Amino acid sequence: MSQLLKVGIAGTGSYAPERVMSNADYSKILDTSDEWIRERTGIRERRFAPPEMPTSFMAANAARRAMEAASVAPEDIDLIICGTVTPDHFFPSTACRLQHELGCVRAGAFDLSAACTGFIYSLSVGWNMVRTGSMRNVLVIGAEKLSSIINMQDRTSCILFGDGAGATVLRQSENASEILFSSLHALGGHDDVMSLPAGGTRHPPTHETIDGKQHTIHIKGREIFKFAVTKMVEMVELSAEKCGVPVSKIAMIIPHQVNLRILEYASEKLNFPLDRMMINIDRYGNTSAASVPIALDEAVKSGRVKRGDLVVMVAFGAGLTWGTVALRY
Ligand code: ACO
Repeated sequence: MSQLLKVGIAGTGSYAPERVMSNADYSKILDTSDEWIRERTGIRERRFAPPEMPTSFMAANAARRAMEAASVAPEDIDLIICGTVTPDHFFPSTACRLQHELGCVRAGAFDLSAACTGFIYSLSVGWNMVRTGSMRNVLVIGAEKLSSIINMQDRTSCILFGDGAGATVLRQSENASEILFSSLHALGGHDDVMSLPAGGTRHPPTHETIDGKQHTIHIKGREIFKFAVTKMVEMVELSAEKCGVPVSKIAMIIPHQVNLRILEYASEKLNFPLDRMMINIDRYGNTSAASVPIALDEAVKSGRVKRGDLVVMVAFGAGLTWGTVALRY
């Protein structure tokens, strides 16, 4: 094989719908409180898309911002990968819708399903496409409308999730910016821990599945908690090792925003200061595949991540899936 090319993130963008769903809003409809939600999760509010706004609308806005930041024209995009578990339709893919809406006339397009690890998986695939020289500009997106699949009567899960989208443009790098390492993992057979039970071919939609709320997110929060802490620590340590540095040399960790307490535990176990983790769960909740790219975009736009910084991204989710990407931003 010819030599692998150096690939960097040329631009980032994100989008969140305007409507804020606060903890107080939940306490009006459920037996819960702002205090409980903040103390147990770190979430203060999340964004909810209006019913008529599909995932592709949020993804397109994030993508336009990323393309603008990367100074790339839509017709120069070769591939669109959209990490999502809340696509506009089963088919055609949300990525195909984006290809049309964004005017990426030359691009191939597909969705990637890895739940909360969807962006990390997508970024890794896009990286490999560019570094082998088969693509020049790849648009990688994580986008979700989780408000459309939550059970608003289940107080243990519905308070966790929000909607949004984040995007990056990957391109052959001519400066210090470079993706250095990626590792992807899966352990199937744990549908009982986290899943959307019905609507697919195993349990096609029926009146019973709808009445039984089987088209909404089902989670076992405590089990996910342990899994998330373990995998987050493992993935950060692996990325640091493969980059040939101690964890302390990472400039910023950009983790999946699942629960502030998970990030606090991981920070303690890694002996890594919490203020060098990008945290925005207080404003967005858990947006699944959108969570890491929104956090990355905010870290870049606020100047908390600068060109040349060693950044480690890490996520974990249903599947089970987990993974990491390390880069010099
Ligand atoms: N308001 C008030 N009380 C609540 C609420 C609520 N919203 N939700 C649960 N409770 C109650 C429970 O009923 C329980 O009451 P009991 O003691 O009388 O039985 C009590 O609070 C404690 O419940 P736990 O489930 O033990 O609470 P815990 O501290 O584990 O927090 C949580 C639950 C927030 C879900 C936590 O486990 C968590 O964050 N888990 C991981 C996140 C997650 O599941 N994410 C899903 C997406 S997957 C992913 O992104 C990887």
